[in-house]
Amino acid sequence: MSGRPDLKPASTAINAGRGASGSALAPALWASSVWESACLDDAHRRATGVRSGEFYGRYANPTVRSFEQAIAELEGDRLDDIDAMAFASGMGAIATTVLALCSAGDHIVAARQLYAGTLAFLQGPCRRFGIDVTLVDGTEPGAMAAAVQPGRTTMVLAETPSNPRLELVDLDELAAITGPFTAVDSTFATPLGQQPLAHGVDIVIHSATKGIAGHNDATIGVVAAERELVDAIWGYGVLHGAMASPFDALNALRGVRTMAVRTTHQSAGAQRIAEWLNDHPAVAAVYYPGLPTHPQHDLAKRQMRQFGTMLAFELAGGRDAAAQLLDRIELIRCATSLGGPETLICHPMTTTHASLTPQEQAESGVTPGLMRVSVGLEDADDLVADLTRALEA
Ligand SMILES: Cc1ncc(COP(=O)(O)O)c(C=O)c1O
Repeated sequence: MSGRPDLKPASTAINAGRGASGSALAPALWASSVWESACLDDAHRRATGVRSGEFYGRYANPTVRSFEQAIAELEGDRLDDIDAMAFASGMGAIATTVLALCSAGDHIVAARQLYAGTLAFLQGPCRRFGIDVTLVDGTEPGAMAAAVQPGRTTMVLAETPSNPRLELVDLDELAAITGPFTAVDSTFATPLGQQPLAHGVDIVIHSATKGIAGHNDATIGVVAAERELVDAIWGYGVLHGAMASPFDALNALRGVRTMAVRTTHQSAGAQRIAEWLNDHPAVAAVYYPGLPTHPQHDLAKRQMRQFGTMLAFELAGGRDAAAQLLDRIELIRCATSLGGPETLICHPMTTTHASLTPQEQAESGVTPGLMRVSVGLEDADDLVADLTRALEA
């Protein structure tokens, strides 16, 4: 059993990952990239251990390990033998995991509702390395399972809620697929918003740059899964080299401590703004799992503990209305990341999803009037007032 099963997740977030800081309450920053060995046998032991600490920074680092242990406890709540591994970014986590588990001639089934970087990785490097990829509509019941080629498909990958349109994949349905590894990018939900491993999904991935670190001051990714699987990913990962830096892991662990209170406040703000936008005449559609009008609201209620800090909406006036809105906002900032204290708005078609072809943008629901919002820690009244001014000016 990982961690303390008697604790609720908000308490686990405070309690977990303290192994490398002694009696200090804040995590210790282990900046060293190398450790000294006492003798030949000791050097051999350190060099050949799986995920051995205190040998060389690319193999393991105590500050990074503390962050990994905190994520393992949060994602592995009430599960046996869950571990985690941190990477230099969310893309570092995704690329390393895919390349650790898939080889030339293998086949990946992926929901097409993915962050554009993940999509570009699957369609570019993966295909170049001879890994075949089939994209399906992850919201359609049975579509991912139907695309699996028994004996050839090695991974089924989904993202839920998805970037940028907040579409959901049914975690129970994904977990029921047998044969290939099942993996889910749970970045938008954070480890407090849903628990894919508890549904039976094999691997959960986060860009911890977002809601986990939560302060726009760390670029870091993390993967959690059964220990043996994480060890296998590590075996390739030490060669791939996309390891998390101790400084980013320190900031991310600091973020873990406040994640529950942040995401609770931010989710309440997102619900309020989504409801307000839903009634606004300049807005053609609002995408937020917490709205009864979201086509997968019932699924969201089943698998999410919080509906999340992200929402998207469609401006009836298209691209011109998007440009005007960005010119007029004062409190909300135009920037493309998410999960931090500042409320951010972005126009996916020209930023996060600009690398997609027009057809791929259309398939991903990235339209000229689509705006994505990461709700921050401001008072929701002030955010609604800012949007009111910007939409009605
Ligand atoms: C859902 C999702 N997954 C992965 C990533 C990639 O994370 P990173 O930027 O930390 O590499 C992002 C980045 O925006 C994302 O939104």
